[in-house]
Parts: sequence; structure tokens; C-alpha cells
Amino acid sequence: MSAKVIYNYNFKGGTGKTTLSVIEAYLLSQNNRDILFVDLDPQSNATDMFNVTFKTEMNPTTPLVDGLTKGNLANTIIKLDEHLSVMPSDWSMSLFNDRVDKLETKTRSTILASLLQPFMKEFEYIFVDTPPSMSSITNNALFAADYVTAVVQTQRASFQSSIQTLAYYNQFKKDYEAHYQFAGAILYLFATGGAIDREVVTKAKDFFGDAIFVNKIYHRERVKRWAEKGIKLENSDAWDKRTAAMYKLVTNEMLKRIGDNNYVR
Ligand SMILES: Nc1ncnc2c1ncn2[C@@H]1O[C@H](COP(=O)(O)OP(=O)(O)OP(=O)(O)O)[C@@H](O)[C@H]1O
Ligand SMILES: [Mg+2]
Repeated sequence: MSAKVIYNYNFKGGTGKTTLSVIEAYLLSQNNRDILFVDLDPQSNATDMFNVTFKTEMNPTTPLVDGLTKGNLANTIIKLDEHLSVMPSDWSMSLFNDRVDKLETKTRSTILASLLQPFMKEFEYIFVDTPPSMSSITNNALFAADYVTAVVQTQRASFQSSIQTLAYYNQFKKDYEAHYQFAGAILYLFATGGAIDREVVTKAKDFFGDAIFVNKIYHRERVKRWAEKGIKLENSDAWDKRTAAMYKLVTNEMLKRIGDNNYVR
């Protein structure tokens, strides 16, 4: 077994990337798949969501930025349960770009991929989450990734930035000889049935073609509660169930697209 690295991304901020990655990782781990989540975002939204879900305060011996810049991630990892481990982030991840600035460009973009090697046998999937910027952090995530998706919000500005994001993926892949595959574009619809939504969905279909996920993410208030109080799958009410069902469909489509038939329930 060698872990596959998944990276849900868009340059645009606030398109639901982190939420999707956290829920996918959580759903898979609840289905007994061995998951590692690497939070490279100094905003640490993913870390916070795991903390509230597991009612804990992850505090690794070594902060992730130190692990990355000193060459060993062993003490940056926290095991949350049998199937889920996290390399949590904190504000200090914001030091990463400066610290690696003096290294040669290719060297500074391949740090994460090399340092994840010792963990490849332990996990089935490794999710990476980054801030929405072009930086050494995002380059490291792209270089480590096996599968990349674009999380696209159906608002005009967001759609434009997705096109730029895709252009950047392609250029990066050539320049750095990265190996990832584009696993598709996931739409996040704000107001279902709204005129702008419809217009952008049509444009997105023209642009991405079959790469567009059939299953979509919709704006659901319950997701906000999950972000504040934790993801709830057990003893849950109808809204929890509906929200979970929506993310399960997207997760299973992702699995199908990357050739994994072991779906989550
Ligand atoms: N399906 C959804 N329904 C309602 N709110 C959502 C949904 N998905 C995400 N959100 C909320 O939208 C906000 C942004 O989501 P999230 O942090 O996942 O986006 P992001 O793309 O990772 O942002 P950033 O670019 O800053 O990293 C959060 O407050 C989150 O709780
Ligand atoms: Mg985020």
C-alpha cells in the first residue's frame, strides 16, 4: 500500500476547499480507511474543525513548520483515532515561505513530498490543505499530490480564478515535472436556481466538460455549525444527515474518478 495524496484547491479564497477536505477525510476515516490530514494553512481552519469534532486541542511536540524546515515530520503528527491522524497547523506555518526562500526553487517545492515518504505505507490517503495563494506552500502541495481537484464557486469572480488556477496547474506540472492528475472540478452552488449560478454552471460545463463532478456542494447552514461545533454523523438530526449525504456523494464520486470502488457510507 502506498498512500495517494489528494489536494482540493483554488486560488480563490473561501470556496469551501478546507471544509470539503476535512469532511472527506473524516468520512473516509469513519469508514475504516487510514487517513492522514496535513494542514499547511497558517489560518488552521482544518485543525480547528478537527479540534472541535474530536473535542481536543492538538499540540504536537514539533510545530509543522519546524518539521518541514528541519527535515523530519515524525513529531508533528497527532493521532485522533484509529484511522485518522493529523499534522496540525498553527500561525507559525506563515514562516514557511520566508524560511525556504533561499533554497533553489525546485528544492523548496519538493520538501513536503520527500518528507511524507516515511508515512506512505501507513496511510491510504493523505489530504493536504493550503492557503489560497501562490506560494511555496501551494507548490509543495501540488508537487506532493497524486490527485488535484478544483473547488469552484458559482460566482463570476470565483469562476475566473478557477480558470487561472487550472492554467497554473498545467504550467506547474510542466515546469516541475509534477506527477498529479486533475481529478475534476467540484462546484459549490450558493443560491440554487439563481440566474448567476445557472450562467456559471453552463460556463463551467463548457470549460471543464466531463471533468465537472455530477454531484455538487450546496450552501447549507449546517456546515457552519459543523465548523463551530464539530462534524456530526452519529445521533444526528435530519439536517446533519442531509449534509452528510451531500458530502458522501461528492466523496464517492471523487473515489470513483480516481479508481477506488470502496465507497463511503
Ligand atoms: N456547503 C457549505 N455550506 C455553508 N457554508 C459553507 C459550506 N462550505 C463551507 N462553508 C463555510 O464557508 C466558509 C469558507 O469555507 P472554507 O474555509 O472551507 O473555504 P476555503 O476555500 O478553505 O477558504 P480559504 O481560501 O480561506 O482557505 C467557512 O465559514 C465554512 O464554514
Ligand atoms: Mg481553507
